[in-house]
Order: sequence, then structure tokens, then C-alpha cells
Amino acid sequence: MNNPAELVVPRVQAAIATAFGEEFRQADPVVRPSQFADIQINAAMALAKKAGLPPRAAAAKIVEALDLDGICTGVEISGPGFINLSFDGTWIEELLNAESAQAASVTTAVTPAATPQRVVVDYSSPNVAKEMHVGHLRTTVVGDSLVKVLEALGDTVIRQNHIGDWGTPFGMLIEHWLEIGEDSPEAALLVDDPSAFYQAARAKFDASATDADGFATRARLRVVALQGGDPETFAVWQRLVAQSKRYFNAIYSMLGISLTDDHIAGESSYDEHLAQLCQELEERGLARISDGALCTFPEGFSGRDGQPLPLIIRKSDGGYGYGTTDLATIRYRVRELEANRVLYVVGAPQNVHLRMVMATARDAGWLPDTVEAVHVQIGNVLGEDGKILKSRSGAPVKLMALLEEAVDRARAVIDASRPELSDEERAVTARQVGIGAVKYADLSTGHDTEYVFDFDRMLALSGNTGPYVQYAAARIRSILRKAGVLEQFIDGGSLDGGALDGGALDAQAQAGNPEAGPATAIAVIEPAERALALHLLEFDTTLNKVRDSLEPHRLCGYLFELAQLFTSFYDQCPVLKAEESVRDSRLALCALVLRRLSGGLELLGIETPENM
Ligand code: ARG
Repeated sequence: MNNPAELVVPRVQAAIATAFGEEFRQADPVVRPSQFADIQINAAMALAKKAGLPPRAAAAKIVEALDLDGICTGVEISGPGFINLSFDGTWIEELLNAESAQAASVTTAVTPAATPQRVVVDYSSPNVAKEMHVGHLRTTVVGDSLVKVLEALGDTVIRQNHIGDWGTPFGMLIEHWLEIGEDSPEAALLVDDPSAFYQAARAKFDASATDADGFATRARLRVVALQGGDPETFAVWQRLVAQSKRYFNAIYSMLGISLTDDHIAGESSYDEHLAQLCQELEERGLARISDGALCTFPEGFSGRDGQPLPLIIRKSDGGYGYGTTDLATIRYRVRELEANRVLYVVGAPQNVHLRMVMATARDAGWLPDTVEAVHVQIGNVLGEDGKILKSRSGAPVKLMALLEEAVDRARAVIDASRPELSDEERAVTARQVGIGAVKYADLSTGHDTEYVFDFDRMLALSGNTGPYVQYAAARIRSILRKAGVLEQFIDGGSLDGGALDGGALDAQAQAGNPEAGPATAIAVIEPAERALALHLLEFDTTLNKVRDSLEPHRLCGYLFELAQLFTSFYDQCPVLKAEESVRDSRLALCALVLRRLSGGLELLGIETPENM
């Protein structure tokens, strides 16, 4: 951790303790950015009240006790009692060079969290035989980024893909699948166009609703067989789910998502526990029958009529539902997976459901106070009409087609701007930019706010977009390449292709990569260099904020600002044309910026193009 603003904190605390007594040592020094200096400390105002002093006098007492030897050149009291601090340039330089030495790889660069946790992250969680919609896209992208940031900070992360693979529709889906033949072209729709498959089954079901021995009746019997554990039915169901997994995996692979079949723990996996779970809640008086259904009524939830809101755990027909499986799930995550933190990266409309599940689990003692459970709410993705994104026909948007369009659009731009690149190179860049743009759009807005899906905006080369940040990184690669030092600085070129192998890089960094050559010291002289340096030193702090707040948009904001600061640095400070020692220092600075941009993008799940 080399962030000067954080390193100053213990010194300010020591000064406060000296000035006002030991009992104030843990007081928040209230460190904020300053307009007039590097940072300001605002603690004097609150302390003044407690000590019965005028605020400026309280500030003066802190300053008198403050030891800033070797780290600050200026200390000033301004306004009602702000303490403005200006960092010593030499200190900033030392910190930056330490940072640069550690930053040989992304993983070694990050200081692990003080108390690593076991975190279960529920994300993506699409439904079998249904199209993944843009909302699922967003939970997939946000969840995968959170998982990467937490892992980089040393948490043990357990991914859980809670797919919807159980329930009454499966009778109808299985019957349909048997009728058309598992190898028929209609059956292949499960992989290529799951909505069409589902609609076809649904249509048959609706058309035969009144027919005593028609499709609908067979579908109902099929559900009974499935839930009764009939082996033949179970085997068909398994094959059907396997087909759907092929569809999910095609989307994950297109997006570069780290979920595999091993992370699937669908609704069906809790089935055998549901009866016992309901019985236990009923016996302990935590659930009661209401209108024929077994329900819990956790405190603090009421309907529009002001009546307590029920969480139905056993329907009047004896069936279990979404609430029941979610209760079994949360219990499993705490008991068996031993989570300290459980994250639900799930659409915002499910907030009440999830909070009721958490509340019931707390009442039942399945979710102790020591375990934090959070709904990371995912806002809706809207079309240009401001309504949930739909295709022109009103059908759900096909996600694969949407992703392909992003890549095609990026391809058109790169074909026009970089015709000298090979066909293959342009194809790779187009995929990285197109997919990166879609992911960045999902990540850069607050995860709980709605936003309008707009290709032009997300693919723009200016503003807080994926392509803007990627472009800054590609530009630095090209500068380093021109100077002939790309290989030397970027770990023997292993950043190439964007796939960072953290493990290998770690080993290399620890072994002291012999090919990396002697480290060049970075001199921090010009204001643009200083601004860049101070921002670079905030990388760890930013990641820790993402971990605490579960908001990847903070990392996007950080990278966007880094790219902007780099651009002004490059406008103001010649690199390739500078005289030798300055040139070497600036190239090392460029390399550090590149590592942070690529490493940050990697934690967002976005690749860094070699050429753009
Ligand atoms: N399958 C659900 C849906 O598509 C999301 C599941 C979220 N996770 C959970 N534990 N409820 O809406």
C-alpha cells in the first residue's frame, strides 16, 4: 500500500492523540481531496466542539503535534479549520518507484485485504430453456468482475450459478422434447434459440389445455413423475438441462466469463431438503398455514393493504417454490460452504423476495449475525423507448445476436482505421473492443441504476467507455514498442493477447524476472507527472473500495481518470523525443500506467488489445 493519503492517517491520529488525549486516537481524521493542496484534514471541526475550542485553534493544536518530516513540504490551516497538506515530491517519487517495482504483475501489486473472507457469489443464474436476457447479461458481467476483484484482494470466492432448472414447466418441456425427438432440428433450438423452444412447448400446452388425454395432461403427469424420482424421466430431464448448459456456455465463452459447469448449483440441487425444511419451520412456529399455503411472515414486510407479507414456502397443492429453494440455498451456503459473506448479484425487482428469504433465514438461525448477506441489485437495461429492452417483434432480445452486433460494429471501425493490420489481428481487436464495450457499459454505471442500451454510446472512443480506456492502453503499447522496450517492461510480452496468467507472472516476479532488465527509476517532476503519480498510487485503495461497496463502477471511474491523466501527461511531456535520462524515466512511467490499465481492465473482465 503506497497511497500517501492513507499513509498520512496514522501520523494525524498520533498528533490528535498528543493534542487531545489518547481517547481520540481512533477518531476519523476526515481526509478529503483538496482544491489548494494534495489533501485536507477536516477533523479539527468535530474535535473543537468536544474540546470547547474555536476550530482554527483546534487545527493549530493538531498541526503543532504533527510530525510530517520527510513526507510533506507544506502544512496550512485554511477556512474554518481545514488542514491542507502538500506532499513532498521526493516522497511521492519513492512511493511511486516502490509501486512500480511491486507492479511487475497485477496480482503481486495488490495488497491483500487485512481480513480475507470466504465469499459466496451468486451470479448469472439464468433459466433452463429460456433465453438469457440483457438483465442476466448484466448480473453475469458485474458478478464476474466482483469475483475477480475479491480474489485479487485475497478473498476465497465460491461462485454459485443458481440456474432455474426445476419446477412445473419441466413437465411440459420434457414432453415436448420427447415428442419432437432429441436429435431433431427443433430440439437444437435449446442451444440456438431457447425462447423459440420454450414458446413451442407452451403453445402445445395451451392448445391442449381442455383435452383429457392430450399434451397438457401428459405434461402434468410428467411433472409428477419427475418429482417422484422416476429414473427414465430424470434421465431425460438431465439431457435437457445439459443442452441448455451448452447454450449458457456459448454465451459465457463469447463474453469471456469465468463460470464453468462446476459452478452450477441449480434449484434442483436443493430439492431433497425442501420437505424437511418446511417441516422444521412449521414445528418451530416460524411458519404457519395461511389460505392453505405454508408461509413465513418475517418482520418488517407488509403488503399494500398494510397486512404482513407472506413468503410462501409450500403451496396449497403441496408444491415448493422459489422461496423454498432459496431458503435451502442460503442455509447450505452458510452451513456447508462456510461463507462469511453471501452476495446475490440479482435483478433489483427481486429485492423484496431476497430480503424476505434473508430475514426468515436469520429468524431460523441459519444466517447468523456474523455472516453478511447482500443483495447486489442489478438495474434493468432499457431500450431507446425507455422500456425493458425487447426486439422489434416484442420477443426477448437474442443475447448472442446482440453480442455479435457489438463485435461487427467494432470490426467496421477497426477495418476503416487500421487497414494495414492483418485480417486476423483486426478480428481479434474487434472482438476485444466489441465485447469490452458491452461489458464496460454494464460495469461503469451504478449496478443498481437502469440504463439505456445504446451501441453508439458504448462504442464511442471518447468519454467513460471501454474503447476509450482500451485505446489509452493500446497507445502506450505502441509508444513502448516504438522505443523498443515493450518486451522489457511488460513481462516479456506476456500481456500480449490480453490473457494475463496471474500464476505464471507471480512466479516470474518472485524469481526476479531476469529478462526484465534493471528497473529504471521514475522521476516525478512536471505537474502532469505528479498528477499521474498520485492517481497511480490510489490503485489499491480503489480496489478495496470496490470490495467494500461491491461497486465495480468505482474501478471504471479510476481507469477512466487514469486514461485522461495519461493523455494530458503525454500532451505536456515529450517521451520518445526527450533526452535520454528523462526518456527512460517517462517510459517507465508509461509502462506502469499500462500495467494498471491492463490489470484494471482484467479485473473488469475486459481484454487489452495489442493494436487498436
Ligand atoms: N433464475 C433467477 C432468474 O432468472 C435468478 C436466480 C437468482 N438467485 C437466487 N438465489 N434467487 O430470475
